[in-house]
Amino acid sequence: MANLSIFVGSVYGNAQHVAEEVKKHVEGMSHTATIVDDPTVDDFRNSEFPLFITSTTGQGDLPPNLEFFFMDLRDAFPLMEQKPFAVAALGDSSYGDTYCGAGRQVYELLEELQGKAVAPMLEVDAIETLEPETEVVSWVSKILS
Ligand SMILES: Cc1cc2nc3c(=O)[nH]c(=O)nc-3n(C[C@H](O)[C@H](O)[C@H](O)COP(=O)(O)O)c2cc1C
Repeated sequence: MANLSIFVGSVYGNAQHVAEEVKKHVEGMSHTATIVDDPTVDDFRNSEFPLFITSTTGQGDLPPNLEFFFMDLRDAFPLMEQKPFAVAALGDSSYGDTYCGAGRQVYELLEELQGKAVAPMLEVDAIETLEPETEVVSWVSKILS
């Protein structure tokens, strides 16, 4: 059984909705999942399996609800010692170079912290899909099975 902490970064609610659908699905597979939308470094330290689901805002920026957490995490630099992690990035490829920039920033930091990515970062393009939850739920299912 996996105990996921879903760290969600969302501006308009898309990523939040995806996180809620993932939680439901994961619990249906007899795992546990907690959504963390105002995270602290301790939430991160205490998580067994951090799963980030974050949109990108501005020009490749993190949603405001993750900004301070991200800075704190970079400062505290809690080494993960190969703890598993996964990152799903919601973005829009019409933004060009900053496509899924927030997800990329998170993924790179977790690699620097020596976490173990259980899968390459998932990119969910708003131009390609109107149902990001379907893609993310199926990706998480594969990771857990
Ligand atoms: C003001 C604004 C800026 C955005 N900037 C980017 C960006 O730089 N890169 C990207 O991939 N997507 C960008 N997006 C697209 C969002 O990440 C995408 O629409 C996402 O689904 C929003 O999810 P949310 O409702 O959880 O915030 C931007 C959207 C808005 C409205």
